[in-house]
Amino acid sequence: MKRSVTLTTVLAALTLSTLHAAGDTPVDFVKQIKPILADRCVECHNSETLLGELNLQTRALAFGKRKAGPVIVPKNAEKSMLYLVLSLPPKDEKAMPATGHRIPKDEVGTIRQWIEEGAIWPEGKDGAITPKHKKS
Ligand code: HEC
Repeated sequence: MKRSVTLTTVLAALTLSTLHAAGDTPVDFVKQIKPILADRCVECHNSETLLGELNLQTRALAFGKRKAGPVIVPKNAEKSMLYLVLSLPPKDEKAMPATGHRIPKDEVGTIRQWIEEGAIWPEGKDGAITPKHKKS
């Protein structure tokens, strides 16, 4: 009896540590994803500057139909252009952002994790992104 209690405790501890290692807490769109898109992407991907036929100002727009195919495939980062373009070598013409320094690796990892978790992107004000140079 005592032995099985110990085993259960050990297994519980192992499970907890594995969960912890697998990605800590879920990604928070407003705190972690929105600032990256707002600072580095939306200046070229908005309703007026629609480069690559892509508007990243809201979830509905980002998930909208494009001739070149979907930008975000929830739970599948490897099929999501939004993640792939950040992982391309800098010399690749499709590498994003098209100008300026690259997105740091840890932030690319956060975007990857966010997509794998289902790409949760709230509606309304929390999910709306205004290009930096414009007044909201
Ligand atoms: C300086 C302008 C600029 C910035 C900043 C920028 N992009 Fe782009 N983006 C472009 C252009 C131009 C294209 C079209 C490239 C093409 O079709 O070859 C594009 C295309 C894309 C595409 C579509 C690729 C495809 O094959 O369909 C994605 C996804 C994308 N950008 C994501 C991003 C993300 C994410 C960021 C921020 C990290 C970003 N972009 C920042 C200019 C920009």
